[in-house]
Amino acid sequence: MTVYVGGIRFIKPVSIGDIVKVDATVIHTGNTSIHIAVDVFSRHIADPEYKKTTHCVIVFVSVDQNGKPQHVKPWIPKTEVEKKFCEYAQTLTKLRDSISKEMKPFF
Ligand SMILES: CC(C)(COP(=O)(O)OP(=O)(O)OC[C@H]1O[C@@H](n2cnc3c(N)ncnc32)[C@H](O)[C@@H]1OP(=O)(O)O)[C@@H](O)C(=O)NCCC(=O)NCCS
Repeated sequence: MTVYVGGIRFIKPVSIGDIVKVDATVIHTGNTSIHIAVDVFSRHIADPEYKKTTHCVIVFVSVDQNGKPQHVKPWIPKTEVEKKFCEYAQTLTKLRDSISKEMKPFF
């Protein structure tokens, strides 16, 4: 179940007819959540090179049949790149907490 989509940065426009490639990578797991980094690339059909057009992080929560959050199998970062992404996800979590506090009166 999607619980959060945020930090979407549209770096370049994608034009009609462009070829689009989407990479989705697990970058962190919490107790019940899975954090996925999504990178979108696009290229004109005549251009061999993809350019990054969008990046964001999406958080999913594993739910049971009653819709209640349930424990997820932990993902352990092994490579330096995975460890960096994991730190990035945890930094974003802290930042989101302060954004949530700021937005609370409007919910
Ligand atoms: C997803 C849902 C089941 C979570 O229930 P909840 O009672 O809010 O759950 P909790 O407060 O126990 O949090 C569950 C997890 O979500 C994470 N979470 C909660 N709010 C979050 C936020 N704003 N950003 C990122 N993660 C968040 C928590 O950190 C927790 O993860 P962890 O266990 O790994 O630490 C519930 O919020 C829901 O049903 N939301 C609607 C989802 C939906 O309709 N999605 C479709 C969108 S298209």
